[in-house]
Amino acid sequence: MIWLIVGLVIIGFLIWWLIFETEGVYLGRRVVIWLYDIYAQRYDRIKNFDPVYERELLAAPILGYFAPFNTLNILDVATGTGRLPLALVEHPAFNGKIIGLDLSRNMLAVAANKVKDDRVAWVHSPAETLPFKDDSFDAVTCLEALEFMGDTQQVICELVRVLRPGGLLLVTLRINTRWMPGKTHTQQAFVTMLEACGIGHVTIEPWQVDYHRVWGMKEGGDSQEPPIPQF
Ligand SMILES: C[S@@+](CC[C@H](N)C(=O)[O-])C[C@H]1O[C@@H](n2cnc3c(N)ncnc32)[C@H](O)[C@@H]1O
Repeated sequence: MIWLIVGLVIIGFLIWWLIFETEGVYLGRRVVIWLYDIYAQRYDRIKNFDPVYERELLAAPILGYFAPFNTLNILDVATGTGRLPLALVEHPAFNGKIIGLDLSRNMLAVAANKVKDDRVAWVHSPAETLPFKDDSFDAVTCLEALEFMGDTQQVICELVRVLRPGGLLLVTLRINTRWMPGKTHTQQAFVTMLEACGIGHVTIEPWQVDYHRVWGMKEGGDSQEPPIPQF
């Protein structure tokens, strides 16, 4: 009897870890996306993002990097419910176009319903194979998502492929997690991964409880391009 209880506790813990703690990442991409499809309607309530904070800490630094130019072409990979597109279109200085891309149709549906703006387009696609030509975007972003993807290095290089030389990459580095082996990286290891894909001037800075913000610039641009500012 005692072994039955121990067995059930272990199985229960495993299910909790695989589904809730690590959001299905060890079960493959289909499970991750299935879970986001289920959570889509509740995502914004759970996250409770503050629009002022989002505008000041996400949109403003991106626009500041390119200022005074604001006619930008931006790609937000794993956009979820449109967090970054919303922050950008609500910023008075933004005058460009942004594509929000995600593999969860339900997350995209919530995003499209929330962010109604002609400057935003939504694309359903995996991050691993982006449906865009090389060097297409001035900035590419991917927030709170790399750790849920199969091969982080491959996805980073795919983000960089569609970023123009001199363009800005903004991604997040998961921290404070002991339960995602192989899915979290030290700062040094993360910088090495970015550099291996052609990103230089990497800046890592504290941001949220679970994430650092990571900025970098694609090599090969005009040498007059400004360095990554310290935000
Ligand atoms: C934690 S949410 C982050 C959403 C948004 N970036 C934010 O900061 O609120 C992770 C998102 O990554 C998406 N995602 C996970 N794996 C993906 C993949 N391989 N390709 C595209 N999107 C993916 C999920 O559907 C989900 O919307």
